[in-house]
Amino acid sequence: MKHAAHILRLVVVLILVGVIFFAVRSIMVPEDFGTQGSYSYGYFRAASEQEQKELVPVFRGSEKCKGCHDAQYNTWAQGKHYSVACETCHGSWHAHNNNTKDAMIKDNSPDACMLCHASVAGRPATFPQIDSIDDHIARKGGDPKEGQRCSACHNPHNPL
Ligand code: HEC
Ligand code: HEC
Ligand code: HEC
Ligand code: HEC
Repeated sequence: MKHAAHILRLVVVLILVGVIFFAVRSIMVPEDFGTQGSYSYGYFRAASEQEQKELVPVFRGSEKCKGCHDAQYNTWAQGKHYSVACETCHGSWHAHNNNTKDAMIKDNSPDACMLCHASVAGRPATFPQIDSIDDHIARKGGDPKEGQRCSACHNPHNPL
């Protein structure tokens, strides 16, 4: 039994590791994790359901804007931008809901339109694309001017 001391030390170290593991685990794992005992929730924290329910939705969809912005809504609903939700261009309802109405994005720059309409090889050929605003205006028989905006000829809510 001359090696018993080595084994004893090993056993002590293993027990210590075990004790530390369970101590740290009891501190780190939230109380409602898995809902003790039956473990009925599996790998899930029970309170997270209520926490998710209490989150304020950020995006609400275009129907949300209808009552207050009838005119824009109706124009939009009849046009080719019907597949582009209001919040895509104007930002989330969340900013509006917090009564920071001036924080609503209202970007009337050509760049805002070119984000979707610039010619990109990867876009489906059937999607309406233009090379540049100057080239586009010239092709449509217009006279390209410095600082001209798409909205001079297109209503963003019903572009054609
Ligand atoms: C409860 C009513 C209400 C709802 C719902 C609402 N708005 Fe508004 N909105 C207002 C009011 C009031 C103003 C400030 C007055 C104004 O400029 O018409 C405003 C202003 C704006 C402006 C700025 C107008 C400007 O000329 O600067 C934009 C853009 C806008 N809203 C977009 C939206 C979008 C997009 C939605 C849907 C996600 C929405 N609103 C939903 C009431 C509402
Ligand atoms: C393709 C982008 C786009 C979409 C989609 C869009 N808007 Fe706009 N909207 C704009 C731009 C750009 C302006 C600024 C026009 C200007 O200044 O001449 C604007 C202006 C507005 C304004 C200010 C008043 C006005 O008519 O200029 C309101 C309110 C508004 N939009 C609400 C809406 C609502 C509600 C929807 C959805 C039904 C919507 N918008 C969808 C781009 C968009
Ligand atoms: C989020 C992407 C997006 C943005 C931003 C956007 N559009 Fe569009 N646009 C579309 C989609 C989607 C269509 C429908 C395409 C279709 O019918 O195949 C469309 C259609 C159009 C059309 C009709 C083209 C045709 O031949 O049918 C015009 C014109 C147009 N947009 C102009 C604009 C202008 C001007 C702006 C900026 C105020 C703008 N768009 C911003 C996505 C966008
Ligand atoms: C000087 C006026 C004018 C300006 C400014 C203008 N367009 Fe146009 N656009 C037109 C005309 C006209 C058409 C053809 C409409 C039709 O076919 O009924 C058109 C058509 C389009 C189309 C459909 C595809 C095509 O080539 O026919 C898209 C997409 C488009 N415009 C996007 C834009 C964007 C994005 C801007 C700003 C960067 C812009 N336009 C600025 C006049 C203009």
